[in-house]
Amino acid sequence: MPNTVVVGAQWGDEGKGKIIDILSKDADYVVRYQGGNNAGHTVVKACGEFVLHLIPSGIFHKRTRCVIGNGVVVDPQALIEEIHKLEDKGISVKGRLFVSERAHLIFPYHRIYDRLREDKKGFIKIGTTGRGIGPSYGDKALRSGIRIVDLYDETTFRHKLEKSLLEKNEIFDKIYHVERFDFDTIYSDYLKFAKIIKPYVCDTAILLNQALKKKKSILFEGAQGTHLDVDHGTYPFVTSSYVTAGGAAVGTGVPPTKLGKIVGVVKAYTTRVGEGPFPTEFDPELMEEIRKKGKEFGATTGRPRRCGWFDAVLVRYSCMVNGIQEIVVTKLDVLDDLKEIKICIGYKTNGKVIRNFPASSVMLKECEPVYETHQGWLSDTSQVKKYSAMPPRSKKYLDRLSKLVKAPITLLSVGSHEDQTLWLSSRK
Ligand code: IMP
Repeated sequence: MPNTVVVGAQWGDEGKGKIIDILSKDADYVVRYQGGNNAGHTVVKACGEFVLHLIPSGIFHKRTRCVIGNGVVVDPQALIEEIHKLEDKGISVKGRLFVSERAHLIFPYHRIYDRLREDKKGFIKIGTTGRGIGPSYGDKALRSGIRIVDLYDETTFRHKLEKSLLEKNEIFDKIYHVERFDFDTIYSDYLKFAKIIKPYVCDTAILLNQALKKKKSILFEGAQGTHLDVDHGTYPFVTSSYVTAGGAAVGTGVPPTKLGKIVGVVKAYTTRVGEGPFPTEFDPELMEEIRKKGKEFGATTGRPRRCGWFDAVLVRYSCMVNGIQEIVVTKLDVLDDLKEIKICIGYKTNGKVIRNFPASSVMLKECEPVYETHQGWLSDTSQVKKYSAMPPRSKKYLDRLSKLVKAPITLLSVGSHEDQTLWLSSRK
């Protein structure tokens, strides 16, 4: 297979885990390039359901090597727990998991800081996952972060941790009036974690570039979604990393010229977790119905997801900034019982209709969606095995989505199991 970047084209939770699992059968390497254990990628296998937070979803295929790239922020405790969980289920990661020595670490003070900032009166509430993602990336940008490579030079690690705590403890004490962190506890815990993860740590940029020379194929696994990207998303209601396809080069050390095909994953409707504008959000009654049918609860935090109609303005913008060449639509079956289905084709603001996604979250909050209404297909699609056998109205709906976002749909998912996946190549 050609190198492929799989990116979420909405606000995350598009069902990328299942799609990566399917595509990674043909990939030599599957690589995470951003985010951390804020992600929750669900993969349903014969032996049970797995929710992966850090380890790439390619781990279920024995021949596939999995890489956590330099652009990821790593909570080593979470990583070790995930390795153990997989091994308990008989999935060995030894010799198949590689972690970048350049990746930045998440420390306990990042997690606490994340939660304190969220709860602080007067600060903007983002609705973060509370995993310390923003504060760790914040330290990276401030050049006060600590990377995995630092753990293997005890003097450097001691020095950096002391400096970091000096500043953090002042903030905890003076601004938040909470207990200071103890240097010795963190220092000794992280040296223990360092020992455990050592067999996996290497220069993953070299590993991947050597693989490219040997003509191996790489699948880049995006976490979150385009509209949570720190630059292209609905700032400030975003995560702190480069979710978009360009992030795959930055976050791995694979040159942009080698990224290959860009595939966007979208849900047949829209969901969002956390705060921030959401023009097509359902009324409470429909929200409840779709949330229940689509099991729309966060895979990491268990929070109920906000649900709404498919927003073509939002996805078209994603297709543009990612260079999406193919679309995968997931969870179409969740719409099976609806008599009418709406698609947002523009926004009304200040008496005008706009068709481009606005940069300002304040403006987006005031936008009213302009809808076109489609008749529902009112039949069960979850057991359909061939695209040609899909109800005609569902095909019409998909054709319209494809036309509006200006990208062809190549794959359709109508349930969490692998056999509930239809290829559309024979669609014409
Ligand atoms: P953070 O990444 O924990 O800092 O959270 C920032 C925003 O991104 C919040 O609105 C989260 O709900 C959202 N977010 C982070 N990770 C995911 C994800 O994997 N799926 C959906 N939303 C996410």
